[in-house]
Amino acid sequence: MHAIAIEGERLAWRETPAPSAPAPGEVRIRVAWAGVNRADLMQRAGHYPPPPGVTEIPGLEVSGTVAAVGDGVNGLTVGDRVCALLAGGGYAEEVVVDARQVLPLPEGRGLREAAALPEVFATAWLNLFMEGRLADGERVLLHAGASGVGTAAIQLCRAFGHPCFVTAGNDAKLDACRELGATAGWNRHEGSFVAAVKAWGGADVILDPVGASYLADNQRVLNADGRLVLIGLLGGRHADLDLGRLLMKRQRLIGSTLRAKPPAAKGAILAALHRHVWPRLESGEIRALVDRSWPIAQAEAAHSHVQRDANIGKVLLEVAGGD
Ligand SMILES: NC(=O)c1ccc[n+]([C@@H]2O[C@H](COP(=O)([O-])OP(=O)(O)OC[C@H]3O[C@@H](n4cnc5c(N)ncnc54)[C@H](OP(=O)(O)O)[C@@H]3O)[C@@H](O)[C@H]2O)c1
Repeated sequence: MHAIAIEGERLAWRETPAPSAPAPGEVRIRVAWAGVNRADLMQRAGHYPPPPGVTEIPGLEVSGTVAAVGDGVNGLTVGDRVCALLAGGGYAEEVVVDARQVLPLPEGRGLREAAALPEVFATAWLNLFMEGRLADGERVLLHAGASGVGTAAIQLCRAFGHPCFVTAGNDAKLDACRELGATAGWNRHEGSFVAAVKAWGGADVILDPVGASYLADNQRVLNADGRLVLIGLLGGRHADLDLGRLLMKRQRLIGSTLRAKPPAAKGAILAALHRHVWPRLESGEIRALVDRSWPIAQAEAAHSHVQRDANIGKVLLEVAGGD
């Protein structure tokens, strides 16, 4: 098969051995579309190696068709149209994955849109509801609101009754976030978000991919008993934590990564998505926001687009394509 290899600074689409036959509990998927995630750029730059035992081929999510099924897999058969959450290997013509990390396409939704669902909706669900434990009506601050994860999280907040405030890098992105359901927003290039978020009422949960450069301000706007869920380090990894504020306001700081979780844990997140989010995708209440796609052989161009912070929502790579 063909797959993307990281060769120094380059991404090369070249002949690679296909993954071996699915073991018990696994399926082989013929890939139609692969999603691009910020993590792929970090892996390529050498800052985010695959977990032990996982292929070096990048790619955390795909859509496609089931091509083979291992022993003991129930509910999936050859020819099914599916999407899957991966630990790696999505930038390829074929991938083998634990069946618990596979979901059917939402009814009425195509393969292209489905490739944009698994990673960002699983991340948003895990961190808002499972780690962040959002309770009725609680308020959310989402940084990088126009990112893939942000555009999924905004829609989950709207659908489940949580007012959300977003930060983003320009006004067009803020407009897109408001259209998806964000209640208010702040352009991060116009200074600190603190006054605006405080005037809005503060946040009970913050979903933060930025880290160090936002830590102090995040603590200032986090309400008593609030949860700061750290999911990335776009703004650095070392910062001072105000332990006084943490203690007196009973704030909680939670670190969270999806990729290294075992298949059973990923399966639990996908089962929750299937139950709570798939019906809303089928009704059209929630959608995957696809920014642009490129043929897989032009993965380099797709990565530069994301690197420039130019995307609103998801960027995709067309492998076999189709809808
Ligand atoms: N922990 C996990 O399990 C997990 C899973 C998935 C994703 N993530 C993380 O979540 C984040 C979003 O992922 P994605 O693939 O959806 O990203 P994406 O679509 O590439 O968007 C990332 C956005 O972050 C903003 N940004 C970049 N550098 C920044 C900085 N220094 N300070 C503040 N904002 C900055 C930019 O938007 P603006 O210019 O509009 O602000 C950029 O477009 C990434 O950090 C990713 O690593 C974590």
